[in-house]
Amino acid sequence: MKADINFLHEEFFRIYGDRGNTPVLYFSPGRVNLIGEHTDYNGGYVFPCALDFGTYLLVRKKGASELRMNSLNFPGDVRIPVSRSYAKIEKSWTNYPAGVINEFAKLGFTSPGTEMLFYGDIPNGAGLSSSASIEMVTAVATNDLCNAGLPMMELVKMSQRAENMFVGMNCGIMDQFAVGFGKKDHAINLNCDTLEYKYAPLNLGNRRLVITNTNKRRGLTDSKYNERRAQCDRVVELISPHHPIKNLSGLAISDLCLLDKYIPDEVLRRRARHVITENNRTLEAISALEKNDIVSLGKLMNESHDSLCKDYEVTGAELDTLVYEGRKLPGVIGTRMTGAGFGGCTVSIVEADQTEAFMTKLAEIYHSKTGLVADFYLPGIGDGARKID
Ligand code: GLA
Repeated sequence: MKADINFLHEEFFRIYGDRGNTPVLYFSPGRVNLIGEHTDYNGGYVFPCALDFGTYLLVRKKGASELRMNSLNFPGDVRIPVSRSYAKIEKSWTNYPAGVINEFAKLGFTSPGTEMLFYGDIPNGAGLSSSASIEMVTAVATNDLCNAGLPMMELVKMSQRAENMFVGMNCGIMDQFAVGFGKKDHAINLNCDTLEYKYAPLNLGNRRLVITNTNKRRGLTDSKYNERRAQCDRVVELISPHHPIKNLSGLAISDLCLLDKYIPDEVLRRRARHVITENNRTLEAISALEKNDIVSLGKLMNESHDSLCKDYEVTGAELDTLVYEGRKLPGVIGTRMTGAGFGGCTVSIVEADQTEAFMTKLAEIYHSKTGLVADFYLPGIGDGARKID
């Protein structure tokens, strides 16, 4: 899975030739969210960290007429004429980089002609932010190519806009933020309303973080995601005339009674309850980690999954099998889905000496119950998007 940088260079020259002209290497991680799910677009708290795998980009300037894009993960040698605005190409992976380059163009920074080669060692569509990773690696590189000098916060917002407006996925800011601001061996405590953030050392002692991929093909994730967003907005609309709030995170646990009073629809009430309780759990999890209380952190992760399963209904049979079967295994401190849900990955904290047995046993049970083969990753926590010298 780990990228071989020499091989990447070889592939670059095989595709583009001209060995005398060395490309520049950039890297951008994927992310895993420890807790705080479906809270970002509600102005709430999240607690993600950047991974030590992600997306590599080799790029060099070439003339002024076209952006040439290749990937070792996707087919096609794509040539896009340099322009003051770019259009979406139906179903093409190049919409992620093109959307970001379009954001630079909107600010008056026209990218020079380039030759680009992308390679991701992060599984696509697994809920580990492969999209945000491609966006952010493009943003950091284009910032240099255009001499734009934009700060990381701006690159994060531009990448989120590219995903919302160009790609058409109405995501919150968590993924791009975690990928941009990641810090080795730290999780990020981010308030998605104010964008204030603090790093928290991720000291798990003799426990390990394990990511398990359901390998379930993504189905209607985007439309269900957008439906959840709309349901949250509807609750805000219904509550606001009685109790003015800007977003759902304006409600505290003590306001849960307002839901019974003003939200007649039982489904909407459950959606809102998830967001309100998840914000609370996230703050508790952050302080548990500060106190080195990993057992409480694990318990909160379990409760987070239960709420995502019962109240927010974004889990599904595959994620639930991994989580509820995983919890029965020795050494499991906490386990939950991570990311948007409906498939993708779980994140678990497991006693280091039980990790091998956990992976072997859970793989067996998962396969026998779902017919699918799970993948396991033991990630390191890495730094955010950057140029590699
Ligand atoms: C996806 C989105 C994020 C966030 C999570 C759920 O990863 O891209 O913005 O909403 O789902 O927490």
